[in-house]
Amino acid sequence: MNFSDITVKHVRTLKPYQSARRIGGHGHNFLNANESPKSEGYFINSSSFNRYPDCQPEELIERYADYVNMHKEQVMAARGSDEVISLIIRTFVESDGSEGILIAPPTYGMYEVAALTNNVKVAKATRHDDFTLDADILINATKNQDFKVKAIFIDSPANPLGMIFKKEELIKLLKELPETLIVLDEAYIEFADKEYDCTSLVNEYDNLIITRTLSKAFALAGIRCGFAVANREIIKTLLKVIDPYPICDPVAQIAVQALTDHGVHMTFARVMECNRRRELLDVELRSLPMVEKVFDSLGNYLLVKFKDGPKVFNYMASRGVILRSFDDKPGLKNCIRITIGSDEELDELMRGLTAFAEM
Ligand SMILES: Cc1ncc(COP(=O)(O)O)c(C=O)c1O
Repeated sequence: MNFSDITVKHVRTLKPYQSARRIGGHGHNFLNANESPKSEGYFINSSSFNRYPDCQPEELIERYADYVNMHKEQVMAARGSDEVISLIIRTFVESDGSEGILIAPPTYGMYEVAALTNNVKVAKATRHDDFTLDADILINATKNQDFKVKAIFIDSPANPLGMIFKKEELIKLLKELPETLIVLDEAYIEFADKEYDCTSLVNEYDNLIITRTLSKAFALAGIRCGFAVANREIIKTLLKVIDPYPICDPVAQIAVQALTDHGVHMTFARVMECNRRRELLDVELRSLPMVEKVFDSLGNYLLVKFKDGPKVFNYMASRGVILRSFDDKPGLKNCIRITIGSDEELDELMRGLTAFAEM
């Protein structure tokens, strides 16, 4: 059998998302996936494992709704925000070529992969030279496509750039494109100031979907739990498409513990520590002779432009410190994204970079 021939056409040419785990790399200090450096302890009760779980475990939805100060009918849980992204595309965007999504690279790679996997078109808006993004850029790009832009995906804080999308720009976009879904990906929002959190706008604008995750500030990337926050009708429609049992029972148990007052308190303590380390690392990196620029970041990572990015990347990999290269991404030649790891991991990173500078 020719497996290429039996594969649907759009999948034949598909390049899978290059997740940090998929790229791999032999190392011991992984600063390439914007994970938290440390896991917390959780209790698991296996007495109900013989039963299928609820599609949307009630306590989990209630806790997350409380956490974001929304009604539980405005919240949906899924296998990470990656699944939410894919569900939005599968639920709302036609795959017959008449509709598509809009993104503004450099941005999180899964928006494009999720669209292409579903045979949905992708339009790309061009950011300003300093990589900032505003409503006008996205409005013009929406109007200039030969297909209908059904959803615009914006990450705030942006990955890998680190910058936020301003609330006033978001409001302008929501008002001027009332027929377009505006998906604001707030995967890293806990690391930024509370004022940048746009969830409450869901109460005012029907076309806003916020995506969230427990993978970053909550230090739970391994359990795969993310959320959509949107108006009731959008949530109801997404729930028509979601798999029957997206949230495993142990996942729900752990997520519920992470969302207790104590869990949330621990998360924000971790966030403060991470941000402290990010500021220190920022200063240290700027003092290195081979660093050309450190982008201002509100996430748990820093994007750094080196004189010779690939050389730094390979040297650090040879020392077991695995970073994420963005050298092949448009506009990001010589750029490397560094996750804010633990003090020890960052000390090791700086020892390596200093040794490189002295070579
Ligand atoms: C901007 C952004 N959104 C979403 C995700 C995926 O999050 P999750 O682990 O919830 O699927 C990531 C992961 O790196 C990300 O950077």
